[in-house]
Amino acid sequence: MTDDVLVVHGGTPLEGRIRVRGAKNLVSKAMVAALLGDTPSRLFDVPRIRDVEVVRGLLGLHGVKVTDGTEDGELVFDPSNVESASTDQINVHAGSSRIPILFCGPLLHRLGHAFIPDLGGCHIGPRPIDFHLQALREFGATVDKTPEGLHLSAPNGLHGTKFALPYPSVGATEQVLLTAVMAEGVTELRNAAVEPEIIDLICILQKMGAIIKVHTDRVIEIQGVKKLHGYTHRPIPDRIEAASWAAAALATRGHVEVLGAQQADMMTFLNIFRSVGGEYEVTDARPPKLGDPGQEGGIRFWHPGGELNAVALETDVHPGFMTDWQQPLVVALTQARGLSIVHETVYEQRLGYTEALNTMGANIQVYRDCLGGTPCRFGRRNFKHSAVIAGPSKLHAADLVIPDLRAGFSHLIAALAAEGTSRVYGVDLINRGYEDFEAKLSDLGAHVERP
Ligand code: EPZ
Repeated sequence: MTDDVLVVHGGTPLEGRIRVRGAKNLVSKAMVAALLGDTPSRLFDVPRIRDVEVVRGLLGLHGVKVTDGTEDGELVFDPSNVESASTDQINVHAGSSRIPILFCGPLLHRLGHAFIPDLGGCHIGPRPIDFHLQALREFGATVDKTPEGLHLSAPNGLHGTKFALPYPSVGATEQVLLTAVMAEGVTELRNAAVEPEIIDLICILQKMGAIIKVHTDRVIEIQGVKKLHGYTHRPIPDRIEAASWAAAALATRGHVEVLGAQQADMMTFLNIFRSVGGEYEVTDARPPKLGDPGQEGGIRFWHPGGELNAVALETDVHPGFMTDWQQPLVVALTQARGLSIVHETVYEQRLGYTEALNTMGANIQVYRDCLGGTPCRFGRRNFKHSAVIAGPSKLHAADLVIPDLRAGFSHLIAALAAEGTSRVYGVDLINRGYEDFEAKLSDLGAHVERP
């Protein structure tokens, strides 16, 4: 733990320009989709983050040759020799990511059986996989839970089904998509998640030869096909990372341009950002032409001076305010005048990180009630899932231990906004989802160092 610490000398506004690449929560799924093709796939703008390494390792174990392409951030997947991997080999990846659960459908199609290790990912609540397993059983898979992991098989093949998710889960929707595309017959998924990352995954599958219709009201219809081929794809940029840097600009009274950030995928965030008192300007991308080098698109975010405003917000599935935008923004809300309310409706235990902010001088109370909006499924279940943030509070330096990815980034922002020198332990966790974050911090003028 001691060498995994970042010393942050806070109190300096972040100023400058950084770039975000392909969305972590799409890229990892796109890599899994490559397993379904019978020819190689090519993915661009892949960030150098831990989750990508985990999926790359798992694909390699299953015979998919993964190589770096010619462009920086390009990966090429050759799935012509997909094979079984031993449970021991696969278990090396146990606990490191939640992506392995999405290997179920593609491996069942390619091999007739699958072994999935114990899952990892961020500890932000129980994070069950019951929707995934229920969906796989609907397709005709048998699931055998053992202490070492899940063994799945499909003795009679996988067949299209009509299925409604109890909640529009991102992962379970992806599970259904990756399974239904090559299942026999038609699948109708109701109450599906429709996050931009899911729509981008659908675009990839369509490029591979799938037939997928996205109807209104969260209904997705998939007509199974016998064969899929490889894809070439440039993924949507990471809107969680973009919003994290935007929140960092606001909390440190700085000015950050995020190249690659896309307005359409961040509309809900931008509305809240403006309500809090932040300013932003969108630059549209312009393709290069003869005599014109073109222009990379992005969004410039800044604190205009003066005081920020308190807001009430509720996290929700798309098109609502993303749960992953919540933690970074809350740091900025500690600087707003009045009472802000945050009602977390996606995860039941995603406010624990506020304790650390309180030790730095913030004034945040968490409640079991559904505050400030409509009642959610956690309301009567004894989870502290609403927060009231009273501000503005002067933040002071502290020693912090990072609990999970997004909360970790919020700790980092708090340390950057606070007066004095903080020590942030466990920063390596941030590499799971934020590419080169230390280099980006330096580019933005942050005073950070490894001891
Ligand atoms: C994805 O997780 C993201 N992870 C999360 O980002 C993100 O917070 C989440 O979607 C919501 O947007 C990846 O894409 C790798 P869910 P996922 O299934 O798919 C419940 C980050 O920091 N549920 O939409 O695992 C679940 O407990 C991460 O980048 C069940 O009850 O999220 C939660 O309350 C963190 N049973 C809700 O649904 C299930 O079988 C939404 O989860 C599945 C989910």
